[in-house]
Amino acid sequence: MPAHNRSVVLLPTQPFDGQKPGTSGLRKTVKVFQQKNYTQNFVQSILASIGPSVEGSTLVVGGDGRFFMREAADIIVKMAAGNRVSRLIVGQGGFMSTPAVSHVIRKYKADGGFILTASHNPGGPDADFGIKFNMNNGGPAQDSQTNLMFQHTKTITSYKIVPEIDYDLDTIGEYSCTVEGRQFTVQIIDPVKDYVELMKQIFDFKQIKSLVGAGGPFKVLINSLHGATGPYVEKIFIDELGCPADSCVKTNVLPDFGGGHPDPNLTYAADLVEAMRSSDYGFGAAFDGDGDRNMILGEKAFFVTPCDSLAVLANNLDHIPYFKKTGVKGVARSMPTSAAVDRVAAKKGLECFDTPTGWKYFGNLLDAGRISLCGEESFGTGSDHVREKDGVWAALAWLQILASKKCTVESLLKEHWKEFGRNFFTRYDYEGCESEPCELMMKNLQDYVDDASSVGKEYSALGKTYKVSACDNFSYTDPIDGSVATKQGIRIMFSDGSRLVFRLSGTGSSGATVRLYVDSYENDGSKIFGSAQEMLAPCVQVGLEISQLTKLTGRDAPTVIT
Ligand code: G1P
Ligand code: ZN
Repeated sequence: MPAHNRSVVLLPTQPFDGQKPGTSGLRKTVKVFQQKNYTQNFVQSILASIGPSVEGSTLVVGGDGRFFMREAADIIVKMAAGNRVSRLIVGQGGFMSTPAVSHVIRKYKADGGFILTASHNPGGPDADFGIKFNMNNGGPAQDSQTNLMFQHTKTITSYKIVPEIDYDLDTIGEYSCTVEGRQFTVQIIDPVKDYVELMKQIFDFKQIKSLVGAGGPFKVLINSLHGATGPYVEKIFIDELGCPADSCVKTNVLPDFGGGHPDPNLTYAADLVEAMRSSDYGFGAAFDGDGDRNMILGEKAFFVTPCDSLAVLANNLDHIPYFKKTGVKGVARSMPTSAAVDRVAAKKGLECFDTPTGWKYFGNLLDAGRISLCGEESFGTGSDHVREKDGVWAALAWLQILASKKCTVESLLKEHWKEFGRNFFTRYDYEGCESEPCELMMKNLQDYVDDASSVGKEYSALGKTYKVSACDNFSYTDPIDGSVATKQGIRIMFSDGSRLVFRLSGTGSSGATVRLYVDSYENDGSKIFGSAQEMLAPCVQVGLEISQLTKLTGRDAPTVIT
């Protein structure tokens, strides 16, 4: 029997500026979220965007362990009760990785879920927090939905809350009460169990164990960067696959990620790179704060670009039991991602889609059964098993292929380049710039693509000459629902197949981050094993010349190169 009968309280509030969800939810500093009513306003706006069906709904809540997660989870519990949600499924302690939330939404047929994360952004009282809402397919809310949220944040005058709900965030179980005559239940679940079960259905753990388990030929090194994958990694790699305990590091989840930047790339996961270089590990992986990003390294820290990772996976999905069952549908990549995967799709006769940046644009294609695999250059790889990118899944997919083909990371990649040629790729990030000059730079670039005389222009740098063959600002029409996303990045294409892309980040919490993406294609066997940075250096110079980036931002070097 429900223990208490609670009343809903309507509390007055006023709109805050700038509660517009970006590439992946609303991200701001913790201090901003801690302002009186700031979090409440955004949560109310999400619940309002669901419409009348919020009444009686089941929603999921999980976060990546960062500072302020527990407070936010508690606000959501009480406001869900206030908005007549029936059931909230919450990870123990408020915790769950992003791909696990996606899976739990799907498995329990929930109507959506809150993900409490700022992903790869640093955490702690002086760093970032974020709230993102996923729909009943388990994937991030689409633009039409986030626009409804944003509209609501601009006119909000009150929010609904039940100020006291009896439940224990840290203890697995069901907590029910009556809210104005209706039952409201908070169900606290093990955040790891369902996800691990899913991975065991997708992969042949026995085969992977023969590669990486005690006595196997491969030593692995997995680095969770103190983010959400820690408990999942310990369960999967140590308990299930029998890897030695010291093969998983930084698996204790910390609210400030140990002061680090929980982003798995060569800069922020430098400790993994160093450990791989100086020892005899055959495989290394790191994941971001909420567990959806991954970086894959081979022996001696041989780096696999995410673009190549996607292509290699696409070419070898038939080694993974899940895809043997489901078959391989098409593939997709975000526009700035290199076209390496397109070449695999062409060989296999698969549909291949080129979408805007952000996982939400894969959702319709996945739901419609048009794609099995998708990925982004930003260390995101995933499949139709959930509706988020999935770091641990990507590492397991690689290990399954290595175990099945009995080869090394480096040999697999080099064989791939020999067969398909190589798409060289690099991304330069200029983080924490002032907004105004960056916006001016993007406006100038828009003028450049609008100017008919840009096509045909020639630029020379470091002994190479590039001729502009086309340019535009990327626009995408969703093939499933016909929705259109415009201004998704300036593209400048050259006659030799090289390409420059310019975008401003949509995940920062303040200021502006410029992303400059450069790629080129090479199938001359004597050049495919060269260094990407050397290969792309002349094109980077041309990009800097066309954009006047150095002059406008005052930055003579990027903060991160990937
Ligand atoms: C970045 C990445 C993008 C990714 C997003 C969320 O967004 O570029 O591919 O989907 O993070 O992980 P951006 O900051 O560029 O808008
Ligand atoms: Zn993430």
